[in-house]
Amino acid sequence: MTQTVGILGGTGPAGRGVAIRLASAGYGVTLGSRDADRAAETAATLHPRGDGHVGGGTNEDAASCEIVIVATPWDSAVATVSALKEQLAGKVVISMVNALTREGRELLPLYPPRGSMAAHIAHALSSSHITGAFHHLPAAQMEDLDSDLKADVIIFGDNAEARKTTVTLVNDMSGLHAIEAGSLSLASAVEAFTAVCISINIRHKAHTYVQLAGIDH
Ligand SMILES: NC(=O)c1ccc[n+]([C@@H]2O[C@H](COP(=O)([O-])OP(=O)(O)OC[C@H]3O[C@@H](n4cnc5c(N)ncnc54)[C@H](OP(=O)(O)O)[C@@H]3O)[C@@H](O)[C@H]2O)c1
Repeated sequence: MTQTVGILGGTGPAGRGVAIRLASAGYGVTLGSRDADRAAETAATLHPRGDGHVGGGTNEDAASCEIVIVATPWDSAVATVSALKEQLAGKVVISMVNALTREGRELLPLYPPRGSMAAHIAHALSSSHITGAFHHLPAAQMEDLDSDLKADVIIFGDNAEARKTTVTLVNDMSGLHAIEAGSLSLASAVEAFTAVCISINIRHKAHTYVQLAGIDH
């Protein structure tokens, strides 16, 4: 049976990139939005290859899926998930949220009071299983199925089963390789490193992604 994945804030570049690769791997994806019509229009622009599909709906529709990804801007992530707390109870919720601020040609990490956005989401969703993934991926390359993306995706979270679910999901997606790092305590470092990746991209007019050497791929 097709597994379903909902993406909160799925109409942005990050959500679209993850959605098309998940759908191409056979998942049934719902792009969530504050505006269901916008989500339907965005979904119609994505053409996955394979048996899966991408549809659009509200964030509530996305939250009703089996696995849920948070892809809103950092400053709306907690409010978005908090409003869906009951629907998200018991589910694996994957945060790809980075708290960043732009200063000139650089992106700088913001350190939220709980250390990371994943920790804030975990605090807001005390009955869900929070993991983190996808933080360092370039959205445009994710959305372009013809790009030669071969990225490692660092996975963290406190619940071993939820980490395992996230690793399986990531490894099902073309061009991605999951690397389980450990607990939610690592979220702060993972999220902050995104600022380094994007600053390098700006400086070098590049679309970098992370590949770790010294580990089996
Ligand atoms: N872009 C990347 O390459 C990339 C890569 C890895 C991780 N990320 C992370 O993924 C997240 C999304 O990135 P993005 O570039 O896709 O961001 P974005 O385009 O700014 O936002 C994504 C979606 O969030 C919704 N949204 C915007 N403001 C909102 C608010 N106040 N309340 C609720 N929903 C709101 C919008 O959807 P609706 O208007 O349809 O509701 C928007 O399309 C960020 O946290 C980012 O750090 C991004």
